[in-house]
Amino acid sequence: MKLKVITSNPGKVAEYQRSFDHLGIEMEHYKLPYDEVQTSDLAEVVDKGMDEIISKGVRNFIVDDSGLFVDALKGFPGVWSAYAQKTIGNKGILKLMEGIEDRGAEFRCCIGCDIEGQRIIVTGICRGTITESETGDGGFGFDPIFTHGGVRTFAEIPVDEKNNVSHRGNAVKLLIEEMKRRGLV
Ligand code: IMP
Repeated sequence: MKLKVITSNPGKVAEYQRSFDHLGIEMEHYKLPYDEVQTSDLAEVVDKGMDEIISKGVRNFIVDDSGLFVDALKGFPGVWSAYAQKTIGNKGILKLMEGIEDRGAEFRCCIGCDIEGQRIIVTGICRGTITESETGDGGFGFDPIFTHGGVRTFAEIPVDEKNNVSHRGNAVKLLIEEMKRRGLV
């Protein structure tokens, strides 16, 4: 079986391939721009995106959307994470958090999969805290200001360790469970 991974990020295709290798599913990088609806709910962004992709005649694919939701900022940057990362960046988030004691936050990753005419949408979460400063050279995006275990940031731990606990890793686990439950793999 082959699934198209609809993304502009080739790194994601490789990640999905690693996770699905043992099930004999082949991932194919597929570039197709689609609109992201204005809503504060990742699953709604993914669901509407899937409708649009199917309306263009594409089937058997995976799409995803992720973001960082900070408790004290009432879920900001959330669905606007990519924009916030490009504009205010990690320094901007730390500035917004200055003097705030409640550092709780979570990464969420929503994956939508169209497979054999069926739709599966799952959301993986990773709880943690926003650090007081940027630490670490690894990872990407908000990794240097997010810690899951309370000590090292996501930018300081090996990729495999991150994948074991991350929002994306958890979403992939849920997706595979649901595929198995429906007898699709
Ligand atoms: P996307 O859904 O993959 O486009 O992610 C949206 C934005 O969320 C990205 O631009 C990143 O800034 C941020 N993000 C998503 N996943 C992660 C992660 O695992 N680490 C750090 N930042 C992330």
